[in-house]
Amino acid sequence: MFKLFVLAVALTCISAAPQGQSTDGQAQTLSNTSSDDGVGNFAYAFETSNSIKAEAKGSLKQLKDDQGKETAGEVQQGSYSWTDASGTTYEVKWIADENGFQPQGAHLPTTPKAP
Ligand SMILES: *[C@@H]1O[C@H](CO)[C@@H](O)[C@H](O)[C@H]1NC(C)=O
Repeated sequence: MFKLFVLAVALTCISAAPQGQSTDGQAQTLSNTSSDDGVGNFAYAFETSNSIKAEAKGSLKQLKDDQGKETAGEVQQGSYSWTDASGTTYEVKWIADENGFQPQGAHLPTTPKAP
């Protein structure tokens, strides 16, 4: 009985969801590829009909840990982009490595130059 109640509430919530002008709910996947060798090397890329694109790849890199000891770390780079309702496309290119996650995009704030 409780399960039926939960299902009824869930269905009510879904059908009562606000109906905007967005058709994102009907978006299709246009392409979607990935590979992973299971030992640290991977890549993926996908694109959807509502202008979302993403791709990334990763590999192992020999790094030094805090004690200067050699260790393998996963480094990755990729990009993602999307187009908003007004038609503006945003793109973020990123690197994630021993220096952290480093996103770059024309719409992202950058560190001001030192005086
Ligand atoms: C791409 O395929 C993976 C694996 O089947 C799936 O988990 C993912 O949701 C798919 N992405 C898109 C955008 O369809």
